[in-house]
Amino acid sequence: MTDRTDLRLPVNAERLWSDLMALAEITEPGRPYTRRAFSPLFAEGRRFLAERFQAAGLTTRVDAAGNLIGRLQGTDPLARTIALGSHSDTVPGGGRFDGIAGVVAAVEVARALHDRGIPLRHSVEVIDCLAEEPTDFGLSCIGSRGLCGAIDAGMLGMTDPAGERLDAALQRVGGDPGRLDEAVRTDLCAFLELHIEQGPVLEASDIQIGVVTSIAGIRRLEIVFQGEPAHAGTAPMHLRRDAALPAAATVVEVRRLADALAAEALGSFVATVGIIQAEPGGSNVVPGRARIVIDARSSHASLIEMFTRQIDEFSLASAAAFRVKRASFTTLSDAAPTLFADPLQHALSEAARDLGLSQTRIASGAGHDAGFLARVCPSAMVFVPCRRGMSHTPDEWADSDAIAAGAAVLYAAALQLDKAVPPKDVIM
Ligand code: HGY
Ligand code: MN
Ligand code: MN
Repeated sequence: MTDRTDLRLPVNAERLWSDLMALAEITEPGRPYTRRAFSPLFAEGRRFLAERFQAAGLTTRVDAAGNLIGRLQGTDPLARTIALGSHSDTVPGGGRFDGIAGVVAAVEVARALHDRGIPLRHSVEVIDCLAEEPTDFGLSCIGSRGLCGAIDAGMLGMTDPAGERLDAALQRVGGDPGRLDEAVRTDLCAFLELHIEQGPVLEASDIQIGVVTSIAGIRRLEIVFQGEPAHAGTAPMHLRRDAALPAAATVVEVRRLADALAAEALGSFVATVGIIQAEPGGSNVVPGRARIVIDARSSHASLIEMFTRQIDEFSLASAAAFRVKRASFTTLSDAAPTLFADPLQHALSEAARDLGLSQTRIASGAGHDAGFLARVCPSAMVFVPCRRGMSHTPDEWADSDAIAAGAAVLYAAALQLDKAVPPKDVIM
């Protein structure tokens, strides 16, 4: 990596880094780094962030969709709001930077704007979006869906394994499921999100800044198979109705089909089965029930449709072949591909150039809150390099000066936008 000690950035790298490491301490001790949305640890992380928002001079609140929002009021009452943010929840056994770097960098930008003592015409908001990672309810991006009015009654009724409903959990974190319409934003003129790349491209090419062009579409499918539990020692093989078998066959088919689509697709295609459950889960019990959750992603929605149709047919046929019922085939969530606003990409690219940072355009295979914010305002993202592209693992790592460089780009772009965007117009 090039030596960056000569970078004179308008943000305070040490201050940013100490917030990052303080949040990393708030994790399940036996499973770093885990701070699952709606958990007591998440609430502890929220208390820390709210305190940092207030210390940065931000007026702080939790909106009806459970997002933590800090606001620096602008001088022009007609000007719209520039929002910066990401998420502070993690996957189980995740990293210290995925999402968190974006929230902490946004706080640092607000501090740097506050420190310069010249208020912007536009108001600036820092947003910690609730539950970006797939939750135990089966839904992801809950807070950012709330900001664009994409939470429906069916989602509010989703339950976690303990039987809690999502609307009750939303209430628990300070949201108000009965007033979700108040969370929908119509006043934003831009949303900017800093995020680690979660891939190897920037580090491998020794590039400091990725200006993100798009986010792949993401569809999550749940398939449940219902067979018959039986004694592992006495049930003859030919009489078994083992639910794990069509599940296992479908997992292999997901990989075969994804390989084929990735090989021939003009755009991207990936699919993963990250959840495979056999119940009742005894080593000496033939599984009576099996559940798999598939995560399929592509820059082409048509490829996700084709994949879904073929897995639907395959899993039904496989269940029949193993004398098992396919109890359900459910789309848990479905986000279309997102294209980011050119003028914002341009603002980020100019900011990186003015700061003397190397840069490239890059597409995102990972999902982000900006994908939902893009439904209500022009949005864009800045990627910073992470070590060997690792993410969703405790080994996830990003250098302090890489994150500070990304924060500096956010800061410079916010200043540019404050000058460029006329009070009433919105960049579309
Ligand atoms: O799954 C994703 O792409 C994101 O990290 N939540
Ligand atoms: Mn993630
Ligand atoms: Mn993330």
